[in-house]
Amino acid sequence: MNASAELKAWGISIRDQFASPAEVGRLKKCANDRRSRGEFAAARVGARASAQRREEVRGDFTCWLREPFHEAESALLVRLEDLRLECNREAYLGLFEPELHYSLYPPGAAYARHVDQAQGTTQRKVSLVLYLNEGWEPGDGGVLRMHEANTGVLDIEPLGGRLVCFLTSGREHEVLPARRDRLSISGWFRARE
Ligand code: OGA
Ligand code: MN
Repeated sequence: MNASAELKAWGISIRDQFASPAEVGRLKKCANDRRSRGEFAAARVGARASAQRREEVRGDFTCWLREPFHEAESALLVRLEDLRLECNREAYLGLFEPELHYSLYPPGAAYARHVDQAQGTTQRKVSLVLYLNEGWEPGDGGVLRMHEANTGVLDIEPLGGRLVCFLTSGREHEVLPARRDRLSISGWFRARE
């Protein structure tokens, strides 16, 4: 089954080795480069005007994937464009554009249980996370915990190269604290309405 068929059937898709170890290494370098230019900022929670840093809710640091793109970032965007078109062709999701950021969780940082749609908004349709962690071990923690209405919880390790996609609407999830830096590219495919 391809990712769009899995999304359609189960609302979630986990693709291991979506990115090769070499691609993971290159994207990690891009993140480091952006970090050294001061492009990462502490993630805040709440609506734009009143957004606040609340580490007990969300402890990561983020950086938008924006132009000028590094080569490895452009290559990833091309692959995600294929995925977007596949989802539209096979699952009729009407997806329009991706909105992506790097996310770095220092040791101990977490993201409390949440949904990816702000209240009253429905534009984000599919959530995406690509992990950039080389040599991740089970004892490192940092799982993505999906809260499924019928089946309880599903814990997903942030293994390098793994791409997790899920239908955004109503799907609660959280990031548990890790013992080492935890890096990903995450974001959403949006619809126009
Ligand atoms: C998010 C999120 C999950 C993860 O950024 O909204 O839930 O595993 N990320 O990093
Ligand atoms: Mn989320």
